[in-house]
Amino acid sequence: MKVLNFGSLNLDYVYQVESILIPGETQASKSRQTFCGGKGLNQSIALAKAGIPVYHAGLIGEGGEPLLEVCKENGVNTEFIRQIPGPCGHTVIQVDENGQNCILLFGGSNRSMTKEFVDTVLDSFEEGDIILLQNEINELGYIIDRAYEKHMMIILNPSPFDNALENCDLSKISLFLMNEIEGFQITGEKEPDKILTKVKALYPKAKVVLTLGGDGSVYQDETGIYRQGIFKVKAVDTTAAGDTFTGYFISSIIDGLPVQDGLELAAKASAIAVSRPGATASIPLRSEVVKEKSNGKI
Ligand code: RIB
Repeated sequence: MKVLNFGSLNLDYVYQVESILIPGETQASKSRQTFCGGKGLNQSIALAKAGIPVYHAGLIGEGGEPLLEVCKENGVNTEFIRQIPGPCGHTVIQVDENGQNCILLFGGSNRSMTKEFVDTVLDSFEEGDIILLQNEINELGYIIDRAYEKHMMIILNPSPFDNALENCDLSKISLFLMNEIEGFQITGEKEPDKILTKVKALYPKAKVVLTLGGDGSVYQDETGIYRQGIFKVKAVDTTAAGDTFTGYFISSIIDGLPVQDGLELAAKASAIAVSRPGATASIPLRSEVVKEKSNGKI
């Protein structure tokens, strides 16, 4: 069984600010750093750091070489990453003194997927392989349809939620990983339990992980509901915490861990990511997560 992540790669320009800007405000930032990120890339790196061999498929633009490099450094298979002319996907991220962020996304090369490229990539995968997707690339609906035809297991992190998801047949998804906001956008419900009930009604075959910020996470499948709290840390930068959770939880499924252990592993990994700056740079190795586990602290 192979694991393919078809997703975005972004250069993250991260500005440290006193407080997230309000409309009309001008504020001098304290620093600027450039990190490798993108929900797709972060999730591939999280899978790789968790010990899962992963192929990343995606497009980088001009100046995107560090994104390719970080994949190679972390053992992500780069056979399906292409460089194209034009601007690379990138973001402008503000991080405040409490580690909270806001992200302005420019799709760039991530929005240049073609059906031909999708077909070329999927030709190398088959029934039983896993495909992981987020919503930062174009042609998402086409990728879902082709992967489903091939009987791949489709995992979707519907983030960021926008109209493009309306053109996707979400009944083909095996596992959703979403936060409360995305849960509301998909179901119209605000209460976590109601979101889960509605997801079950809309997509009866799908398993779902709902992350709840400070309230932890909850998982639902045909066997029941499992809940997990958070591990408290001093927040430095929340960027990629959700991606770390996603990669680590998927790794636990592939490794055959019990659900509750998988949720705990993912919660612990994402807590470590929150305690560090940057996106891919903040994602811990599995050995670090396990060490913290045996120490009984983060
Ligand atoms: O989830 C965090 C990621 O979202 C950042 O790395 C940024 O690139 C945006 O895609």
